[in-house]
Amino acid sequence: MDDAILTFLSEEGIDSQLIEGVKAFRKKHNADEELQTRIPSPELFYYGKDVWKKALAALLAGENLLLAGPKATGKNVLAENLCAVFARPLWNVSFHINADAAYLIGTDTFNGEKVVFRPGPVYLCAVNGGFGVLDEINMAKNEALAVLHSTLDFRHVIDVPGYDKIVVRPETRFIGTMNYGYAGTRELNEALTSRFAVLDMPLISDEDLTKLLKRRFPSMRDQICGQFVRLFYELANKAQNSEISDRALDLRGLLDAIGLIDKGLTSGDALDMCITNKTFDAYERSLIHDVISARVPDSLTKGDVFAQ
Ligand SMILES: Nc1ncnc2c1ncn2[C@@H]1O[C@H](COP(=O)(O)OP(=O)(O)OP(=O)(O)O)[C@@H](O)[C@H]1O
Ligand SMILES: [Mg+2]
Repeated sequence: MDDAILTFLSEEGIDSQLIEGVKAFRKKHNADEELQTRIPSPELFYYGKDVWKKALAALLAGENLLLAGPKATGKNVLAENLCAVFARPLWNVSFHINADAAYLIGTDTFNGEKVVFRPGPVYLCAVNGGFGVLDEINMAKNEALAVLHSTLDFRHVIDVPGYDKIVVRPETRFIGTMNYGYAGTRELNEALTSRFAVLDMPLISDEDLTKLLKRRFPSMRDQICGQFVRLFYELANKAQNSEISDRALDLRGLLDAIGLIDKGLTSGDALDMCITNKTFDAYERSLIHDVISARVPDSLTKGDVFAQ
């Protein structure tokens, strides 16, 4: 059982009542031996006390959870963390334009001798009482998702035509992630949305971002860490005022850039590759470059950024 994450939650100051609730849930629902390997033990923790509180309360209350928000706000990190907190086996279901009932629930297939039912990830998650991460749920066609309605609501069943009705185990939870604004995403229809408690994922706070950077890059110099944090919020501010698009506001890109500096690139090259060059408009790109180099000089090397 992964207790590192429970320790992390206490350190973050999460309500002890919620943590006790989680412990009681774990005690009541033990994962079978052969499913233990599906329980994640995350290396990255999600930072954001308020979000933790809401997510834990919703899952303890038996709700399914929809994490909605812009890119790189930690939706997948949180989904995996939640699964580890509750010590449940995880099924990751990637949604795409062609996701349909056969992919989600299962389909008949010929095994060389006879036709058998090959279960899909939603089915396996439901019969094993797992946590299903419905990733990028708004990439799929709404009509295809109608098969999930009875699984997600009070009926807790999966109806596979030609087979018995499958009862969804009570400890099963589904966590959807969705990003609005990416190319190819759609609005989730009302019927599906109403089957989730919806968590609006905020941008990480500066205090949490500092903690995250320190944990990810323990030898980073304090002053430089502060510069990166300020750079991130400056980009956020400019994106909010529509001075630049939100392409450059990408925590994933910032973390990757710091990783490249650690591998020996200069700060200028690393930030260009991981942030600036993700914008394809030349004028905007030069604007972003100027914002970045005003905060973090182009020529910083590994030795400037990290204490040896
Ligand atoms: N609040 C946060 N706590 C911890 N890590 C965070 C947080 N916000 C962003 N991150 C970091 O941002 C990166 C992206 O996280 P993740 O993949 O979970 O984002 P996402 O919201 O699923 O993004 P996308 O919408 O692009 O799929 C990870 O490195 C993650 O650690
Ligand atoms: Mg994601």
